Order: sequence, then C-alpha cells, then structure tokens
Amino acid sequence: MKEKRTKIQVVLTDELVGQEITVMGWVRTKRASKNVAFIALNDGSTINNLQVVADAEKFGEDILRRITTGASISATGKIVESQGAGQACELVAESIEVFGEADPDKYPLQPKKHSLEFLREIAHLRPRTNTFSAVMRVRHALAFAVHKFFNDKGFFYINTPIITSSDAEGAGEAFKVTNFDLNNIPKTEEGQVDYAQDFFEKESNLTVSGQLEGELAAMALSEIYTFGPTFRAENSNTTRHLAEFWMIEPEMAFYDLQDNMDLAQEMLKYLVKYALDNCADDLAFLEKRIIEEEKNKPQAERSEMTLTERLKFVLDNDFERVSYTEAIEILKNSKPNKKKKFSYLIEEWGADLQSEHERYLVEKHFNKPVILYNYPKDIKAFYMRQNEDGKTVGAMDILFPGIGEIVGGSQREERLDLLTTRMQEMDIPADEMSWYLDTRRYGAVPHSGFGLGFERMILFVTGMGNIRDVIPFPRTPGNCEF
Ligand code: 4AD
Ligand code: MG
Repeated sequence: MKEKRTKIQVVLTDELVGQEITVMGWVRTKRASKNVAFIALNDGSTINNLQVVADAEKFGEDILRRITTGASISATGKIVESQGAGQACELVAESIEVFGEADPDKYPLQPKKHSLEFLREIAHLRPRTNTFSAVMRVRHALAFAVHKFFNDKGFFYINTPIITSSDAEGAGEAFKVTNFDLNNIPKTEEGQVDYAQDFFEKESNLTVSGQLEGELAAMALSEIYTFGPTFRAENSNTTRHLAEFWMIEPEMAFYDLQDNMDLAQEMLKYLVKYALDNCADDLAFLEKRIIEEEKNKPQAERSEMTLTERLKFVLDNDFERVSYTEAIEILKNSKPNKKKKFSYLIEEWGADLQSEHERYLVEKHFNKPVILYNYPKDIKAFYMRQNEDGKTVGAMDILFPGIGEIVGGSQREERLDLLTTRMQEMDIPADEMSWYLDTRRYGAVPHSGFGLGFERMILFVTGMGNIRDVIPFPRTPGNCEF
C-alpha cells in the first residue's frame, strides 16, 4: 500500500516529533560515515531540507549507493528531535524506496555553487536548485497576491486574446502568427503577401498588450484587470527584457491620472508586503545569497541596503511624483549629463528617457521610487489622453531602484474627435480599430489603466540581477530552448 506523504514544509513547521510519517523528495546531499548516512531531502515545498538518517547496517550498501545527489526517494520513519545543529527535527528512516537514480557522473547539478549563466543552459533542471526554487515560490506568491489584491477590491479578472490583429502599442514589435507554408507564401497580383488566404484571413500577431481589449471590458464592468502572457519581438538583449513576459493590466472606468497613480502605488506596496509576510524563508535565503555575491564586488558597487531593507524602504515611503518637464530639468543639470557620462545626453525637452536616466532619478536624485507623469505626446502611444498644453499626454511611468521602469500607464483619450485625429497623425488605420472606437462612440467615460511587468516585479522582490532568472523558461533573442 502506498504511504501517505507529508510535505517537508509541514514536517518542519508542525510539531510532529514522535510521529511516524513518510516524506518524498529529491536528495540534495548525502554524507555517509561507516555507521550512518545523513540525507538532506528537499521536496520543493520549502527552501529547507529535512535530514533523513539511515542506519548503514540496516539499509546496506546496495540501497545507500543509489541515494546520490538528484536521486528521488521516499522515506518512512519516526520524527525525532535532532542532535545536530541547524535543524530542530529529523527523520530516522525505517524504510526507504528509491524512485529514480541520478548517475553521479552525469547529473549536471553537483552539490556546489553553479553560476546563474550555467544554470540557464539547463533550465529544465534549474528548479532543483535552492535559488530557483526560492524564486519560483516567490513568483507563485506574487501571482496569488495580484489576484487577491484585485479580487478584494472588486475588480474582475478578464482574459484578453493572445492572438490578435491589433498592435496596441503601435511599436511594430509583434510576432506574426500564420499557418502559411513559409517556403510557399501566397502572393497577391501586386506581389504582396496575400493574408486573405491565411488562417485568420488577415494579418495577425501575438499580443503586445491586452489593454485595448481590457478597455472594452472596463467600459462595462467598471474595474477589471488582465494577467497574461505578452510577446515583444524587440531585439533588446538586456537584463530587463524578455520576448515573452507576463503583464498585469488593470483598467478602470471613472479614474483620472491621479487615481491611476494611487492604485498603482497601493498595488506595488501590497505585493511587496505580501512577499515579506509570506515568503520569509525564501527572502532570507535570497538575501544571504546577494550578500555573498556582493563580497566579490568592489565596495562602491555594493548596495547600501540589504534586500529586506530595500523592500521595507518601498513600503515606508510614498513614491515621488514628478512631471516629465521637471525631470528633464533635473537631468539636464545633473553631473553625469554635464560631464557627458550618460550614453544619451539630455539636451532638450522632448527627449525619450533611457534606463540610465530613469535610474539616475530614482537611485541618485530622489533616492526612492518615482512616478513620472505628463510625457511629450510624441514619445507615447496614441491612446493617451491629451493635456491642455497641446504638447503632453496624461502618461505615467513608475521607476524602481535597480529596475528602472516597472509600470507604464496613462489616462486614456476618451474624446472621439481628439482620438481619431491623433490616430491619423500616427498613421493608425481607424477603420480596423472601429471596434475600439465604439467605446468612445457609445457611453464614453474618463478612464485609466496601467501595465505592471510581472517579471520586473519579481526581479525587484527577489533581488535577482537578470530577468532571465525569474521566469521558468526565458525567451530572448536567440533563445527558445525547451
Ligand atoms: O510600458 P508598456 O509597454 O505599456 C503597455 O503595454 C500598456 N499597454 C500598459 C497599460 O497601460 N495597460 O509595458 C508595461 C510594462 C513595463 O513598464 C514593463 O514593466 C513591462 O511591461 N515590460 C516588459 N517586461 C519584460 N520584458 C519586456 N520586453 C517588457 N516590455 C515591457
Ligand atoms: Mg513603457
């Protein structure tokens, strides 16, 4: 008969001393002496291992030899108070079953520290490491917290399409979707691709944002959010960009730009607090890891705050709200601009901000998260609400230390005439967007929304340095393995 399994997280938190239980998991390490083997067992339910003690004589060479790093086992026995340091209790094995061996000469994960770059090449085994299992548990907790935050506020979760014919951001960075035989693409008489013969009978792509469809739902349900995969074929090989990432996009009827900022700030703080309250063991592990890593860095590059201090700092401080125009003045007069240290020098109003500028504002000038608002209309998307000055739109970006832009959003242009004029100026075909414009034709209301990059949020909360290391299977230029 199959034994009932107890998760190691439960074994380590509940008082189970004296009880006989069964645990199952993967061997992290085994230390063997002549008489006894100590097996550190992990089942992913917690960062912490359970020590399984196996009497050498009782189990014999044959079984113990098969129990190596990476092997999977089931162990049944009594929980006793631990003699050794580092753990409160341990399991004294009565019986052990080996599910799957892991040939020690071939198993890629050795019981030593591997580089994150190496682990990326074996992303199918990464979750077996302490670092990635910790990141994945935090990722789960944050996803759950997103739903809880919005549910408790009466927002509705809606699913926007993954395949669409619109390019919401108008940046031309969409991956095409087709089932044409790529070696034999049907052409029109003019020699253009004949999309009329394609699966959807029109040009279609993977979504770059669920916002436009989200707006339709908000114009009926008032407050909604999406949380789904998002695809961008931008060739940015940075530590902040993925070709496939997850975005949370709330959209709210009757919200102006200030309401939008208030909600975004409340949500970011909620997520940080949720992680602090619910992921203490994993965050403590990640914090220790960062401290170790930073020992190899020159003093000047080490962060002044520990991970938990950084998270608490975000909780305790209101984000600084700064207009784009004020920010440009600050940047123009900044030391790195005057000394030509920025790669992109800020010369005049209208310049697009690069992440070096965003990080200067957050990390050097204000030293706290910043909400930048009222950007020049020419560097922002067509749907943003035009301000009275005729030059700026009601956009807002939230900038975080170490990350740069974590949220992008705006109040939406709800006035049909202004919206269609702007679309014309930006060469966006109004006839194809008629479905979107209907929300402005019938019962239009002021409304706002924003997008939070989920992986950038996880980067911030876990203190990891590269966005590829906070998603199970990263997709970046040249990488689509597994
Ligand atoms: O600023 P973005 O492009 O805004 C939108 O897509 C709007 N439709 C959102 C809205 O108002 N509903 O993207 C929003 C956020 C960014 O701030 C960033 O955190 C994240 O999405 N993001 C990426 N994350 C990882 N990899 C990429 N390539 C990303 N591009 C954007
Ligand atoms: Mg943006």
